[in-house]
Amino acid sequence: MRSYSLIAPAKINLYLEILGDRPDGFHELVMVMQSIDLADQVDIRANGTNDNRVFCDHPQVPNDPSNLAYRAAELMRQQFPAAFARYGGVDITIHKHIPIGAGLAGGSTNAAAVLVGLDLLWELGLTQSEIQELGATLGSDIPFCVMGGTALATGRGEELAALPDLENIYVVLAKYRSLSVSTPWAYKTYRQKFGESYLKEPHDLQQRLQQVHSGPMIAAIAHRDSVEIGRLLYNDLEKVVLPAHPNVAALRDTFQQFQPLGAMMSGSGPTVFALLNSREQANQMKQAVASKTTDPDLDLWVAEFRPCGIQVAK
Ligand code: C5P
Repeated sequence: MRSYSLIAPAKINLYLEILGDRPDGFHELVMVMQSIDLADQVDIRANGTNDNRVFCDHPQVPNDPSNLAYRAAELMRQQFPAAFARYGGVDITIHKHIPIGAGLAGGSTNAAAVLVGLDLLWELGLTQSEIQELGATLGSDIPFCVMGGTALATGRGEELAALPDLENIYVVLAKYRSLSVSTPWAYKTYRQKFGESYLKEPHDLQQRLQQVHSGPMIAAIAHRDSVEIGRLLYNDLEKVVLPAHPNVAALRDTFQQFQPLGAMMSGSGPTVFALLNSREQANQMKQAVASKTTDPDLDLWVAEFRPCGIQVAK
């Protein structure tokens, strides 16, 4: 085949705790990541030239080498020069549905789709963990985007352990269209405010990881207890993003007034989400939030938990 279309789903964080600093300048994290069926479509087609090219009709997505999907194709070219010599460059077309700068891993999932797509197009036969390892060199969330489903992510976010699939949980998401949050800014500000309390000893880090691993959120997921999962949602980055953006804090409060299973900001934000037990409840809540806020800048979506990451589109 000379072309592939891939489904590239967004993620939300059900849990995000910042444990400490890492020697590489990143943060030591413990997170629970969840794929949702709000997704981009990424088409990859051999273009018969010696160049990789990226196309996206969304005005905020760069069509140049700064695009993470383009960088993923260049990484594959560098790692597999014989395949590139044989098959040539690719055109990557991104049909964007996931909002940009939203805390939903939109850029990372596009890059993950390119890695999976080139593995197929070039018939490399890489294992999922080999693709994840390549992805980790480009961004911390990419390995999870490849794997998808529900997972515990540690280290920089690239060390993954699969958790049981969660079915029949629905999500309402909301984001102010004109507001994006820079992930480096969020982590840098967190370090400035809370760096004093970071765990420093390897033993303490290990112990805290163990506590989370055997703690209530992982138990709630094991029991597929959506009420507990909703109650236990946690994200350290809310402590810096919500004070800086009172409208996002207010949106989270509005979400909570509708008494979903739980409501929180995803990743470094500013997307806010709520969890519900049925699509009907999710649609009702979306309508209710839309009529309560009436801000034309607010976008709302309903999505469902998804048990897998990148997939070839049917
Ligand atoms: O890995 P990625 O490029 O997605 O990370 C974006 C930024 O988020 C990093 O440059 C860093 O500032 C911050 N980050 C961090 N610790 C992590 C993951 C990300 O400090 N574990």
